[in-house]
Amino acid sequence: MLKGKRILLGVSGGIAAYKSVEIVSRLRKQGAEVDVVMTKSATEFVSPLTFRSISARPVYTNMFEEPKSWNIEHISLAEQADLVIVAPATANILAKMALGIADDFLSTVLLAVRVPIYVAPAMNHAMYHHPATQRNLETLRERGISFIGPANGFQACGTEGDGRMCEPIEIVTELTRFFSEKQFLKGQKVLVTAGGTREPLDPVRYIGNFSSGKMGYAVARAFVEAGAAVTLVSAPADLPVPQGVKMIRVITAEDMYREVLSVYQEQDIVVKAAAVADYRPAVFAGQKIKKKGENLTLELTPNPDILLALGQKKEHQFLVGFAAETQHAVENGSEKLRKKNADMLVVNDVTAPGAGFGTDTNIVSFLFPDGSRKDLPQMNKIEVARELVKEIALLKKVK
Ligand code: PMT
Repeated sequence: MLKGKRILLGVSGGIAAYKSVEIVSRLRKQGAEVDVVMTKSATEFVSPLTFRSISARPVYTNMFEEPKSWNIEHISLAEQADLVIVAPATANILAKMALGIADDFLSTVLLAVRVPIYVAPAMNHAMYHHPATQRNLETLRERGISFIGPANGFQACGTEGDGRMCEPIEIVTELTRFFSEKQFLKGQKVLVTAGGTREPLDPVRYIGNFSSGKMGYAVARAFVEAGAAVTLVSAPADLPVPQGVKMIRVITAEDMYREVLSVYQEQDIVVKAAAVADYRPAVFAGQKIKKKGENLTLELTPNPDILLALGQKKEHQFLVGFAAETQHAVENGSEKLRKKNADMLVVNDVTAPGAGFGTDTNIVSFLFPDGSRKDLPQMNKIEVARELVKEIALLKKVK
């Protein structure tokens, strides 16, 4: 199952470190090569020799010891890995990851990694529920780090609660699932739009909206994880470019229309998460509009409806729209799905707490042309995106 895969296991200093030896053993039995990086505290619990014997590879513990090969080891390890798992992940290493601290071998590798990272938290339940830890976990989730556990149960300190590391078999099952599911959209070309368009009024002002781009960028990232070739057409958004996407930056709805239409023919899937202005100022004032102390009336003219145009020109593409609603979300969303000839529509009530613009979470319903729908609970945007990608993959097979 994992033949040819290279997995980097980070072991931090918790009593569950002894269980990670079994993780290495199970991964190897499935054909993976496992590089182990231990923190100094981890070596207090389990000897590097144990991991070296089980992984049959050098174990990395110290930035400054004699290198095992002549390259910059923490960078080359990060570059060679197909996947990273930190197990056990203590409160300390999770905090360092959240803050980007790189003060030992493991935290430095983790900062250089560009492949998916899984963590299996393990700590006392009070530490787990501490607001600082919860905040760090939230930051990591937001960044797309995947969590396995923690489980609830008896803890080494003699108490019970959340914070136990999941069993090695559960961790390995999850990692195996990643590789089996990972490439389910390999070879598919996907176009995602994100962000909020800006419609200039004069050289210093524009009409815009509250879209941060978080939802659309998460969708782009989830498609990359699924192996698709992703083009992201983004209106202004103050977010890092997701790894592996082809980025096209636009400002206005008309720019977005042009760019999207120019690459539409070659796409297999299109997801329109961008918040596109329906109107733009009818006239662009070449100079800054002066304040006159009176009411100012702006004339607006309609922008092209990109989703509608895509629906009209649709051939083989699977077309997904979003709908930002403030009332009667499902009814209005269903109307948009029908009118715009989409294959699926993701509706969010942007007035609901934890949903819509700027938030890290969203609450959405998937609407389908046969009138059925699937309601998702409040989830992180990357989790919503992953659900969406899975749903699209499923529907495309039956389409
Ligand atoms: O970016 P975030 O801060 O994370 O916020 C996420 C979001 C709220 C922007 C996102 O979840 C969302 O709802 N995106 C769609 C916003 C929107 O424009 O909705 P709408 O109901 O006005 O448009 C319906 C669909 O038509 C959308 O797919 C939109 O991209 C498309 N459209 C709209 C107008 C237009 N002129 N052209 C279009 O293609």
